[in-house]
Amino acid sequence: LKPDGCGIIIFGASGDLVYRKLMPALFNLYVRQLMPEKFYILGFARTEMSDDDFRERARKALTDAHKNSEAHIIDSFLSHCRYTSGDYNNIEAYRQLQKKASICECDYTKKENKLFYLALPPQLHSTVVSRLSQSGLTVEGDKGNPWARVVFEKPFGHDLQSALDLDNHLCSMLNPSQIFRIDHYLGKETVQSILMLRFANIMFEPLWNEKFIDNIQITVAESVGVGHRGGYYEQAGCLRDMFQNHMLQMLSLVTMEPPTRFEAEYVQNERVKLLKAIRPWSERTLKDNIVRAQYTAGEINHEAVQDYRQEANIDPDSITESFVAMKLYIDNWRWQGVPIYLRSGKRMHMRESEIAVTFKRVPYSLFGFESQHEMPANILVMKIQPNEGVDLTIHTKQPGPKSCMASLSLSFKYSEVFDVAPQDAYERLLLDCMLGDRTLFLSSEGVEAAWTIIDPILNFWRNYPEKSPLQTYKAGSWGPKASDDLLLRNGHQWRNPPDE
Ligand code: BG6
Repeated sequence: LKPDGCGIIIFGASGDLVYRKLMPALFNLYVRQLMPEKFYILGFARTEMSDDDFRERARKALTDAHKNSEAHIIDSFLSHCRYTSGDYNNIEAYRQLQKKASICECDYTKKENKLFYLALPPQLHSTVVSRLSQSGLTVEGDKGNPWARVVFEKPFGHDLQSALDLDNHLCSMLNPSQIFRIDHYLGKETVQSILMLRFANIMFEPLWNEKFIDNIQITVAESVGVGHRGGYYEQAGCLRDMFQNHMLQMLSLVTMEPPTRFEAEYVQNERVKLLKAIRPWSERTLKDNIVRAQYTAGEINHEAVQDYRQEANIDPDSITESFVAMKLYIDNWRWQGVPIYLRSGKRMHMRESEIAVTFKRVPYSLFGFESQHEMPANILVMKIQPNEGVDLTIHTKQPGPKSCMASLSLSFKYSEVFDVAPQDAYERLLLDCMLGDRTLFLSSEGVEAAWTIIDPILNFWRNYPEKSPLQTYKAGSWGPKASDDLLLRNGHQWRNPPDE
């Protein structure tokens, strides 16, 4: 599993994502001995810093994230790190970068493989790729040896057109095999295990269709607010931030057809096929099947939290949504008529992400229920985070002389069954980039297909605000009443996980 020696060149190396996610993930790979034998990490950003300043920043992040790590392991990891500063648009800065990379190659790797990680706002993606390409840094050798790969963080564009423009530009500078588009949800262990659960067990797949499944709910609830990312979030909103990527990718894994091989092209194609089968919106469904809302002041875990509009870098008259709920349908043989409900929001009651598949009830009740509708259903819940695991509700006889039924859950928790902690999503994805495995990354068709679903909603909200009014919900709740009403119309209700 060990990748070949390479340099990891991080753009935006003074930014928060690098210290919160990337450095801890690379360090974890190092501790697990999954980093290449020979590697270096070269930070690049506008901020002037010495190699030592960069290492000190990284050290702080690592000691915060890995409280039990011994100092000498952190020192040894940091000895692979260097830094250089420059303007992202200035070709001279890339010459300096190239020089520094060549020194690192002599000192550390003796190989010219390079992984460029763009931890940058999307407005800079095109510029950086142009300059990288002009300075020859992304040129690969014969048969990709040495290789040069570029990793992009979402958001990929701001809407369908900007995503297509960005993609055309990237593809004119890089080969598709050099482009790695990250959706970190695809790197989560529990998200990957959706495919295992579905396709490694014979008992689910025969029931996984409109004949036996009543509805599917995907919830990604966050208790955090926008924090220090107000500037970005205010422009993006929940629909772009969570639905265009994470929510639709999870939906595609739960509902796609089995790929014929577990390889990038096959898995990506099935995901795209599924997204393309989502029923296009009509004016009626845009109005009736989507709810957008913003949080007002409230309380979470007995602590008062402020209104969205009072958060830092948020417009006091903001109409940006911090919550979205929607109902959609998939037009194919497998899923015809099955309502799929998605919801995600910030400052909700608790942090809880799960996918709940509710099966249809048995056709005829033997056990004392007046009607079939009173029978409780079987529900399979894939718990994405926290408390990662799987939970299946079944019904059984309660002990005693009468035929009383009890519902109980067959469940397992990753933390109780496996003695290793689930790998962090970034760890897995960074390792895959170094190994050149693209299975868990997004294809350009995948990004386009997702924007094709999201774009009409954005246009509708912009053009007909009166038909899709922004609702409010109290911080610490499960969202606005309109989100509950959306399900009630079909006789359903959200599965709100109980408090721990
Ligand atoms: C990011 C979004 O992509 O995912 C954030 O930009 C969100 O707004 C985050 O908080 C959620 O990720 P996780 O891994 O904490 O569930």
